Amino acid sequence: MKKRNLITCALPYANGPVHIGHLAGVYVPADIYVRYLRMRGRETLFVCGSDEHGVPITMAARKEGCSPQDIVDKYHSLIKKSFADFGITFDIYSRTSSATHHKYAAEFFRKLYEEGKFIEKESEQFYDPEAKVFLADRYIVGTCPKCGNEGAYGDQCEKCGSTLSPEELINPHSKVSGAEPVKKMTKHWYLPLNEYEPWLRQWILEGHKEWKSNVYGQCKSWLDGGLQPRAVSRDLDWGVPVPVEGAEGKVLYVWFDAPIGYISNTIELLPDSWEQWWKSPDTRMIHFIGKDNIVFHCIVFPSMLKAYGDGFILPDNVPANEFLNLEGDKISTSRNWAVWLHEYLQDFPGKQDTLRYVLTANAPETKDNDFTWKDFQARHNSELLAIFGNFVNRAVVLTHKYFGGCIPEPGAFQDIDKEALAQIPVLKQAIEENLETFKFREALREAMNLARVGNKYISDTEPWAVAKTDMERTATILYTSIQLCASLSVAFAPFLPFSVEKLNRILNVQPLSWDDFGRSDLLPVGHKLNQAELLFSKIEDAEIEKQIARLAEIKAAREAAEAAAAAAAAPKSEPAKEPCTFEEFAKMDIRTATVLAAERVPKTDKLLKLTIDTGLDQRVIVSGIAQYYTPEEMVGKQICILANLQPRTIRGIESKGMILMAKQIDGKMRIVTPEERLTNGATIG
Ligand code: MF3
Ligand code: ZN
Repeated sequence: MKKRNLITCALPYANGPVHIGHLAGVYVPADIYVRYLRMRGRETLFVCGSDEHGVPITMAARKEGCSPQDIVDKYHSLIKKSFADFGITFDIYSRTSSATHHKYAAEFFRKLYEEGKFIEKESEQFYDPEAKVFLADRYIVGTCPKCGNEGAYGDQCEKCGSTLSPEELINPHSKVSGAEPVKKMTKHWYLPLNEYEPWLRQWILEGHKEWKSNVYGQCKSWLDGGLQPRAVSRDLDWGVPVPVEGAEGKVLYVWFDAPIGYISNTIELLPDSWEQWWKSPDTRMIHFIGKDNIVFHCIVFPSMLKAYGDGFILPDNVPANEFLNLEGDKISTSRNWAVWLHEYLQDFPGKQDTLRYVLTANAPETKDNDFTWKDFQARHNSELLAIFGNFVNRAVVLTHKYFGGCIPEPGAFQDIDKEALAQIPVLKQAIEENLETFKFREALREAMNLARVGNKYISDTEPWAVAKTDMERTATILYTSIQLCASLSVAFAPFLPFSVEKLNRILNVQPLSWDDFGRSDLLPVGHKLNQAELLFSKIEDAEIEKQIARLAEIKAAREAAEAAAAAAAAPKSEPAKEPCTFEEFAKMDIRTATVLAAERVPKTDKLLKLTIDTGLDQRVIVSGIAQYYTPEEMVGKQICILANLQPRTIRGIESKGMILMAKQIDGKMRIVTPEERLTNGATIG
């Protein structure tokens, strides 16, 4: 087994707060894993920080009307604090705008540049002639060639997940000014990924068959599709400047500099010993990421490290997760459809573990999953509180009641006691196996199964009833129960650190060790417990309804905005018709007439039979206006008709002419009538 574990989490963009999708996909599983490794005494370094460059940041600045620096300052501190308050135990959480990062990322580029690892290429790229900027990545939008989504970006379609280049977009336009882009020459540096393809195939497809199937599958389809040189610079004024001559106005592509952030953040923390972590074959590196990051962590960054050489290690595993939805809808920062961590911490103080539990129990490990507030409440009240909390509370309260809070000397163990205790090593092994293979939801389920064992044991043995007649038996039951509580304190420690801290206070112990977990005598006879406190308090309907109402409000506002936008964009009238000549128009005999009589045509909904005076004659017209006018309304009305339309027989009635009607785009129709009553037969033209 390798000696050290270097665990990284995708650096979140500092363009908005962290939400439950980030947490479920990346930060909660990584933190569980790191806590577990540390409990096992394995040397571990947990590295993260804010990703502060790239178009996501400059776009947010544009939207909020401030500078990119303001944006990253604001969100970096918000994100950093909320992670800390949520119990994510990074060894360092730094940022890519730091001096250390700028310096190291530039050095990294320079070395590759000097060793000729890049291709330098001038090419035509999209340029916004109004805003005078090149349109990279998210600055350009258009229709996705794969799925037809009209809001696809120049680097990716969020609807179908395809990776795109701006040239592929249909009907591209600038997100900055809305202008139609023009092509303009510009120079960039490319990493020739195609040269690394044989090596990547060998390393991943042959060497890492154990990777999660979603990760392995994505890598395989990328490799099978053939790799292209990838630009590692951009024309932008925000980022790490390209450190070579003649590169004014150019910065490193954010996906080139950000993963280097894992290294530079390590350097910031351990300036003298960072190479131990990055260049020793004795280090095992694991990247925790979401599925949209797979290609960058499995193909691009490893190729960068390979190109650099110098002993850099590669990831041993990349346990990427799928996505979490919220109440059936895709989580989206720009659409404000999310549960934000900093807001959650305010709304549910002291309930970090509930969110950690729910996000793990529902983790999108193999497929996208849904977060709902009802499920959140149910899992808290009927699992955490009713099983884990309830068991611990009963065991501790009864030990105080009958034995003054001291663990009693057990008598002879019966089968039911032995069976309960025998579950501890079995479930420990199941938890371990699942944690070692990144199956966090399964691992958590096994930990909860241990709480179920305890809860069922105390219900079945009924120490409160036995105590009326048999104190020795009561002692055995409570001894057994408290040992199960102690085991739970270890089993849940990676998942529910806040509750375990409370449990340890109640049990009056320092954190228990993973190695001892499995034994049924973790706490000695005579050990004094502290007073019971509730591990979990009930989440009431009102709290959940408040959250649901908040989301409903956001959804209603969004739908109203979308409807307004659709209405604004919708055509106001029918498109124009083909031109016609004056002669064609003059052929039409249009004149005024008055309705003398009107009746419905039997067995139809739409037709009225109208008898009219045209000034020339009295005649019958059958007209499809019954949906708009009753026969009574029509009698006496002056109307306009096309008098020389060829007669037609409709439902056995000969109809001579047509009534002129005005029809709105939404289908509403009214008759056309002269502004003032005229004699019948007045010609119109
Ligand atoms: N900021 C990126 C995202 O949120 C992740 C960057 S991961 C790193 O998708 F490796 F580049 F740091
Ligand atoms: Zn698409």
